[in-house]
Amino acid sequence: MKARITVLPGDGIGVEVTTAAVDVLQKVASRYGHEFEFNEALIGGIAIDKTGTALPDETLRQAEQSDAILLGAVGGYKWDNPSAPVRPEQGLLKIRKHFGLFANLRPVKTYPALAQYSPLRLDLLDGVDMLFVRELTGGIYFGSRQEQGDGDSAYDTELYTVPEVERIAHIAFRAAQGRRKKVSSVDKANVLASMRLWRKTVTKVHEDYADVQLDHVLVDSCAMHLITRPASFDVLVASNMFGDILSDEASVFAGSLGMLPSASLGAERIGLYEPVHGSAPDIAGQGKANPTGAILSAAMLLRYSLSLEAEAKAVEAAVEGVLDGGARTADISARGSSYLSTSEFAQAVKDKI
Ligand code: IPM
Ligand code: MN
Repeated sequence: MKARITVLPGDGIGVEVTTAAVDVLQKVASRYGHEFEFNEALIGGIAIDKTGTALPDETLRQAEQSDAILLGAVGGYKWDNPSAPVRPEQGLLKIRKHFGLFANLRPVKTYPALAQYSPLRLDLLDGVDMLFVRELTGGIYFGSRQEQGDGDSAYDTELYTVPEVERIAHIAFRAAQGRRKKVSSVDKANVLASMRLWRKTVTKVHEDYADVQLDHVLVDSCAMHLITRPASFDVLVASNMFGDILSDEASVFAGSLGMLPSASLGAERIGLYEPVHGSAPDIAGQGKANPTGAILSAAMLLRYSLSLEAEAKAVEAAVEGVLDGGARTADISARGSSYLSTSEFAQAVKDKI
């Protein structure tokens, strides 16, 4: 098949890891007889430097004409002022909203070969395999916000509508049907009105999915249970903010934040695929970045935007094979031992495809 992919490397290690992921996609194309066309565009700090905005219109126009978007990371020391009017993160929020990418899928699992790099006890990690379904275009991230007159108060509003909760709940239940048929819906219904609406709506949507088990978990207790019994979770569905926080917490199960991929999907075929990690300016440009999160995001791109399931599985199997074979990047190697550079690791994955 022919596909057009917009690549948004962004800042810091975003550049190295997207290069690695594109390399792997190119290998998939030649191995399976596809034609992928890659177009690079600007987002984040580099876009601010070159155009004055974190998401130039030109980037949106290019992305609109493509089947999928592969993103690296945004941000860095240079733009690290949270009160600046123009910030790299705005590019991310804006592109999610622009394409209506309301569903953020973040799979988290343990790799036996990497379990020793997790701070958790090995016996707890056994069988950990969960999927976060994070609402991505609503809630407090996009609620009304205001810094009050003289700067001595400020507020942000958590607002959810029934249709917003319904559509993310459907995604979670459908995902669970293809997995272990369990959904944990995260809320704070004991305190927040918006979360009572969340719970009521998820319960209603559940009526269509008799084969799936639903639990409601309060976010504070969920944060604890993730650590004490991670293997008991299958699909977790959460608001934008709670999903953001809990998915970072859960990254420790994979051994490194560098391992985790994500897909942001909406009603259309186009999706945005990015590693969960950030731009890591401290190691940028040194070949120390772990490209696994980006490469597995490329696998999700093949699966969800291009419907190339066999190719997606081939990439995932190649990553596992390479890890099982002992290949390591800096973040997942023992202190003082040798490790592969970002591009060497990508090459090893390509060789296995
Ligand atoms: C993420 C990030 C973003 C978010 C930031 C950079 C805006 O933390 O993708 O999880 O909070 O959504
Ligand atoms: Mn986050």
